[in-house]
Amino acid sequence: MIKIATVGTGSITEQLIQAMQQCREYEVVAIYSRSLEKGKKLAERYGVAKVYDDYQIMLKDSEIHFVYIASPNSLHAKHAYEALSHGKHVIVEKPITANLQEFIKLKEFAEAKQLKIFEAITILHQPNFKVIQEHVSSLGQIRMIQMNMSQYSSKYASFKEGQSPNVFTLEYAGGALMDINVYNIHFLLALFPNYKKVIYTPVIQQGIDTSGVLTILYDDFIASMVGSKDNIGKNFVQLQGEKGYLYVEGSPSLVGASYLTLYKQEPIVLTDIKEYDVYYYEMKRIAEIFHSKDEAMYQSLLQHSYRVIRCLQQAKEAAGLVFENDKKETV
Ligand SMILES: NC(=O)c1ccc[n+]([C@@H]2O[C@H](COP(=O)([O-])OP(=O)(O)OC[C@H]3O[C@@H](n4cnc5c(N)ncnc54)[C@H](OP(=O)(O)O)[C@@H]3O)[C@@H](O)[C@H]2O)c1
Repeated sequence: MIKIATVGTGSITEQLIQAMQQCREYEVVAIYSRSLEKGKKLAERYGVAKVYDDYQIMLKDSEIHFVYIASPNSLHAKHAYEALSHGKHVIVEKPITANLQEFIKLKEFAEAKQLKIFEAITILHQPNFKVIQEHVSSLGQIRMIQMNMSQYSSKYASFKEGQSPNVFTLEYAGGALMDINVYNIHFLLALFPNYKKVIYTPVIQQGIDTSGVLTILYDDFIASMVGSKDNIGKNFVQLQGEKGYLYVEGSPSLVGASYLTLYKQEPIVLTDIKEYDVYYYEMKRIAEIFHSKDEAMYQSLLQHSYRVIRCLQQAKEAAGLVFENDKKETV
């Protein structure tokens, strides 16, 4: 049983607590919130015994073996580093850190402490994704990839009115690239890790990217990926090869139903599972890898997280986006 504490009380924490309780390999033993009241409300809903409003004190609790971190992006590295310092393994929400430097430090620190860091990302752990991976080779030489992940933000209206929700600030390492296009990057690099160049063309409002197009160049093909928080569009993934195309319905983060269409042939349904609990599969797989001590799989996930954060870093630099975390040592 993984005895875990949570950080942050946004809706993703609630969804992850549900997933952890559903897959029965976790026991959520504590909740940290800066507000005792908020923490208690969440704890009551899920029968969690302990609530802390002091992170350092929570980290001294020896019942806790793992910490799940869903604070704003700019605080991921700091919260993770502190948890590792206290001998806890960590599961950190996407994007794993605010920049590449933070990731490298965290990885080295975890290795030195013989502790694990997992990035909480849905895509890699979904049964549908495995099916897609198995069929990519039937497309022949890939030439073009398109993805669209457009998720109109519930906080966009307040941002337009002049407020500064965390996710729309450089201070909290927000923006469409870090929040949304990161899913497209995970999807792409899990299939095709070895790209050559990254170009990011953002729509900037009040200094932050509210949407943008990420172009990733490979030796012999190109991926073009839209990530938006400020408009509404149809989400999909399309991998186009010389022998045919593979189309995935809906948001890349959810890895929905997928279809293979070979040249001059009718589409074949690869998987028609349209809606399922992506967080359940994510948390279940992390528990399995941890319990089975599957070091090779762990290292391959960590290497994947490294490629994704390096790609984000290159995209940010290409677009001239600079976060507060990039200007100082955070860990
Ligand atoms: N995998 C997914 O599908 C998914 C979906 C949504 C979000 N996420 C990720 O989850 C993380 C949290 O996202 P969110 O939208 O919930 O972010 P958020 O609303 O900005 O913050 C999350 C929580 O962190 C705490 N917090 C906020 N500001 C803080 C500050 N200045 N200092 C310390 N703690 C602070 C708050 O909890 P307290 O007030 O209780 O302390 C808040 O509920 C992000 O990294 C995001 O990328 C992932």
